[in-house]
Amino acid sequence: MSTYVKNTSNASLTVRPLGAALGAEVLGIDMRRKLDQETMRLLNDIWMEHLVLVFPNQHITDLEHVEFTRNFGEPEIFHQDIIRSKSVREIFRVSNVDENNVLMPLSHPTARQVSLAQFWHTDSSYRAIPCTGSLLHGIEVSRTGGETQFTNMYAVYEALPERLKLEVAGRRALHDFEFLQKQNSLRPLTDEERAAMPPVWQPLVRIHPGSGRKSLYISPIYNEEIEGMPSDAGRRLIAELTEFSGQPQFVYSHRWETDDVVLWDNRCTMHQVTKFDADERRVMHRTTIVGDAAVVAA
Ligand SMILES: [Fe+2]
Repeated sequence: MSTYVKNTSNASLTVRPLGAALGAEVLGIDMRRKLDQETMRLLNDIWMEHLVLVFPNQHITDLEHVEFTRNFGEPEIFHQDIIRSKSVREIFRVSNVDENNVLMPLSHPTARQVSLAQFWHTDSSYRAIPCTGSLLHGIEVSRTGGETQFTNMYAVYEALPERLKLEVAGRRALHDFEFLQKQNSLRPLTDEERAAMPPVWQPLVRIHPGSGRKSLYISPIYNEEIEGMPSDAGRRLIAELTEFSGQPQFVYSHRWETDDVVLWDNRCTMHQVTKFDADERRVMHRTTIVGDAAVVAA
């Protein structure tokens, strides 16, 4: 697909598709300005078509980032007091630099938890109503790796071999925030954190409320088991689905430039970050859009 231009009364948006699977760059948006409804509708259509949108050269503050997020819905507030920004609560700090501007070694609990984004997942899938999307702002970007890879879970579902389609049909997976902690020997959750985020069952095949299309819905770092299967078999199935989902024909890998903002749809994509040098600073700020409805099973 080649570059195209879409106009509204107040804006002209240039859309440049980035990969065969998903992703497009969008020029013509300044996130410091309020969007009118017509432009917002158009932007939403472009998002639904490409699933991942890259907005280059967005010189925004955290507050402007949060304000722009409100165009899509309420910004989520992370339930743990690590990772969440102390100054702007809606900001989730995907960073190996602490708020005193000090590089954290990989052994630091916060850096370790952030580093688990190096495995495929969708954001906040452990919530009873998971988020719709995320907006990530590249503040200090990596040059030794640190690309964000996205995979198109519509295309993954459609391409699943019949055997796997039958295995996932009508089944649910458990999404448990605590599974991430247990698997990786992170600090145990406090009673309060555990009570805030009890495990939830979600369908393995979901229908997107906007497009009506089916996608595979897994979030492997949180998926402890699959309903009706022995634990081992469930884990094996998750591993097989994860490997299938990460094949290059489904993936767009984003190499960050400073002040890129990337918007993605967590209802039909997964993502992971590629490895980068632990001595290199990587500071990314994320907002997350609160979900507006329970996941609909296919
Ligand atoms: Fe993530």
